Amino acid sequence: MIMPVIMCGGSGTRMWPQSREHYPKQFLNLVEADLSLLQSTVQRLPSNCSPAIAITNEQHRFLVAEQLREIDYHPQSIVLEPEGRNTAPAVAIAAFMALEKGQDATLLIMASDHFIENNIAFHQCIENGFKLANQNKLVTFGIVPSSPETGYGYIKKGISTGINAFNIEQFVEKPDLVTAQQYVSSGDYLWNSGMFMFKASLYLAELEKYRPDIYQACLEASQNNQNDLDFTRLDHDAFCACPSESIDYAVMEKTNLGVTVPLDAGWCDVGSWSALWELLPKDKNNNYLRGDIISEQTYDCYINGKNRLIATLGLENFIIVDTDDALLIANKDKVQDIKKIVAELNKAN
Ligand code: GDD
Ligand code: MG
Repeated sequence: MIMPVIMCGGSGTRMWPQSREHYPKQFLNLVEADLSLLQSTVQRLPSNCSPAIAITNEQHRFLVAEQLREIDYHPQSIVLEPEGRNTAPAVAIAAFMALEKGQDATLLIMASDHFIENNIAFHQCIENGFKLANQNKLVTFGIVPSSPETGYGYIKKGISTGINAFNIEQFVEKPDLVTAQQYVSSGDYLWNSGMFMFKASLYLAELEKYRPDIYQACLEASQNNQNDLDFTRLDHDAFCACPSESIDYAVMEKTNLGVTVPLDAGWCDVGSWSALWELLPKDKNNNYLRGDIISEQTYDCYINGKNRLIATLGLENFIIVDTDDALLIANKDKVQDIKKIVAELNKAN
């Protein structure tokens, strides 16, 4: 049985100013007009899965519950972290919960900030991943890279496993630009899509081996769960004592049991304004324009207006996003650095 785990507790800072602390991007309708990224993630799950565990933070519990209700989806549980500790602990908590139920389920770990165009191809890869997970592998889904993105993990393909997958020879999370350029031009690397499949027990064994501190904190945090209607709350102090780390650094960079299944399904991490621009339909000048916009001699831009007219003249490669209380004007090549603006703002508040 496949047990999906939907990670939806991220802050999505690179999509500021639309993505805000109280309303991060996984809850926004960024790609599809009538579905949030979280809702499309749930709708793309294969039908032969058990109900999912959604894991988020306390602050966003009603957003998650309400958005799932809107699409008539009944999760197994909505687990609430008192504070975010990144994805390694979130996955560990889900794995402990699966084992608690007496099942060493195969977990399908889904990020909630992606778009996938071809669901049939995606489901075929999951079938493949399921077989490999049952051979005690930690499965990632790898994407053929199209640019030297520094916001992704890179996977060096090793020898073939025989069933349209490769052993992972090296996993490097978020390399610098020069390294990423070398990886892309070598043709030997795939991007990590940020979705994983493995047996709950295998993930925990690898986490215990490489990050016993995270393992121990999550074990304690999941031992004193409290259920309150749809929500499961973790032991506050134990979870808050857990170090913050992503699954990529904590386990995937270190394990020898990684394999990658190439995924060719029109995957996109809606991780930055430039990634979103790539994905959306554009006009004859290669612009994506939403709202009341007049654009003259404007090319390769993403412009998202709110309440007022936006007029542009002689612009190339810009991101412009207007909201009620903040306006972003950025060079499309610099969008990874929006995090820095958000960090500045957090300092000021
Ligand atoms: N519950 C919970 N708690 N979820 C979290 C937390 C947390 O503390 N932090 C992040 N998430 C969720 C996010 O909402 C998102 O859906 C997912 O976990 C991945 O987190 P991101 O913060 O978006 O990761 P990333 O995009 O920087 O990097 C990951 O994804 C890339 C592809 O999209 C990595 O796995 C990279 O290797 C990968 O290339
Ligand atoms: Mg992401």
